[in-house]
Amino acid sequence: MTATDPTTIPAGRVALVTGASRGIGAEIATELLAAGYRVAGTSRSGRAPDGVLGVSADITDPEQVEAAFARVEEELGGVEVLVANAGITRDMLLMRMSDDDWDGVLATNLTGTFRMVRRATRRMMRARFGRIVLMSSVSAYVGSPGQVNYSASKAGLIGMARSVARELGGRGITCNVVAPGFISTDMTDELSDEVKDDYLARIPAKRFGETRDVAHAVRFLCSDAAGYVTGAVLPVDGGLGMGR
Ligand SMILES: NC(=O)c1ccc[n+]([C@@H]2O[C@H](COP(=O)([O-])OP(=O)(O)OC[C@H]3O[C@@H](n4cnc5c(N)ncnc54)[C@H](OP(=O)(O)O)[C@@H]3O)[C@@H](O)[C@H]2O)c1
Repeated sequence: MTATDPTTIPAGRVALVTGASRGIGAEIATELLAAGYRVAGTSRSGRAPDGVLGVSADITDPEQVEAAFARVEEELGGVEVLVANAGITRDMLLMRMSDDDWDGVLATNLTGTFRMVRRATRRMMRARFGRIVLMSSVSAYVGSPGQVNYSASKAGLIGMARSVARELGGRGITCNVVAPGFISTDMTDELSDEVKDDYLARIPAKRFGETRDVAHAVRFLCSDAAGYVTGAVLPVDGGLGMGR
């Protein structure tokens, strides 16, 4: 008897990944495509990996979010899996952080994600099936100097996910959080060598994460194999934030 891979998906399931134009989101979209999903990827630029339906949508704009869902539903079908990955940083020490820095990060990372989740669950509830994964960060629970706005937004996602898990668990919908540590992408390329060295010294795995490390965790949480996992926070951080 040959064992089947439980993280491979019944053909044709539709997944939408936000922030799929580069970095972690592009890797997740590619991973889900390889697992057998039909995948749409949104971002402001609308770029997406080969084979992924690229849709331009700024998640801070309710009309663009609605239009993106309409396009995905028309071209691929109703969204059964949502990976809310889009996020930004605007780092600044607290005393110098402007209201704009705060509002901008919260508007994208927290409110934008809320908007995507609310829209996606409409159909998931009718279908009595859904997988939602929210992209948080180790900064949500260990904190990070210069990232008061970012850490607050990412901690908010944990509360959001657990509330969604409680509200919709009876409808076959799971909602989980992935909390990456330091992953090599454009977002972390911006950091100084000093900050990078400090992280490396604190990571038990003694390496930075790769985008595929995160994509593998997301693939599992989206799969049928993870049907009894909900409201969980899965760190993908080489041990950086363990114990919290
Ligand atoms: N890299 C890390 O070490 C790390 C660690 C912990 C958590 N994370 C989280 O993982 C996620 C992905 O990070 P990354 O490193 O891959 O970042 P990235 O390379 O900067 O990519 C961010 C993605 O989000 C999209 N995006 C940004 N603002 C958007 C908006 N308003 N509407 C729609 N799309 C938007 C970007 O596309 P456009 O610019 O085209 O819109 C891009 O596709 C983020 O939520 C980040 O906070 C990353």
